[in-house]
Amino acid sequence: MSSTGSLMAASESTASTRSRVGGAMVRQARLQDAVNIFELVNSLSGDGTLLRRNYAEICENVRDFFIADSQSGIFLGCGALHLYGPHLAEVRSIVVKPEAKGQGAGGRLLVGLLEEAEIQGVVSVCLFTRIPDFFFHFGFRIADRTTLPDKIYKDCQACPRLYACDEVAMVRGPLPRIAVLGPTKIAQPELVKLQVGHIAHPVEEAAQSAVGGTSSTSMKKG
Ligand SMILES: CC(C)(COP(=O)(O)OP(=O)(O)OC[C@H]1O[C@@H](n2cnc3c(N)ncnc32)[C@H](O)[C@@H]1OP(=O)(O)O)[C@@H](O)C(=O)NCCC(=O)NCCS
Repeated sequence: MSSTGSLMAASESTASTRSRVGGAMVRQARLQDAVNIFELVNSLSGDGTLLRRNYAEICENVRDFFIADSQSGIFLGCGALHLYGPHLAEVRSIVVKPEAKGQGAGGRLLVGLLEEAEIQGVVSVCLFTRIPDFFFHFGFRIADRTTLPDKIYKDCQACPRLYACDEVAMVRGPLPRIAVLGPTKIAQPELVKLQVGHIAHPVEEAAQSAVGGTSSTSMKKG
């Protein structure tokens, strides 16, 4: 079976994934979607269903996201595929608005993300979840989380639930045989030789210029 064929076996046709979602459409996100993504993802971050994502991070990574829209263009949900490298990708932030659940949007978003992993040549896709049953439908299986060091070092290390995690690690495809992330090194503060003087502040500078004051150079000798 081709790789596309294996995806199709997990759901329906890949072609229809991109075009129809029970009356909705799945497409790649644009920057204009960032506000909707931000609001929907973070509406479920309080109880730990989804990892909180800040607006700047969503904008920076908006090309990771797929969007499900209704046929009239109403935002229904989103999901993201994070690429660690050719050895591993991760499904993140997959969520459908409460009123759109159960109509196929979540499944079609997931198939769209898996199709994107295929396009990128990544055969191992992982995720951490509290609802493994949903992901079983799409060929994921439960895995030992220690087989996913990249995920652990990216998110878990800084998570308050590190030692009380209630999520299940899942993988689709072979387990990754390499990792690219390791423990975060805490940067030691460097000793910086202080210079005597005044470092000009651009806002103060502008204010001084506006009232006719003299503009300082970047450093005034003391
Ligand atoms: C999980 C979620 C995205 C599913 O979206 P959805 O649009 O309701 O799902 P679909 O309608 O496409 O369902 C696809 C299949 O999965 C099943 N399914 C959906 N939600 C499920 C769940 N929570 N548990 C088990 N199976 C589920 C459906 O019954 C359907 O099966 P079928 O094809 O045999 O009928 C949605 O429920 C959601 O946003 N949940 C809150 C956020 C969340 O938990 N995200 C996952 C974080 S890892």
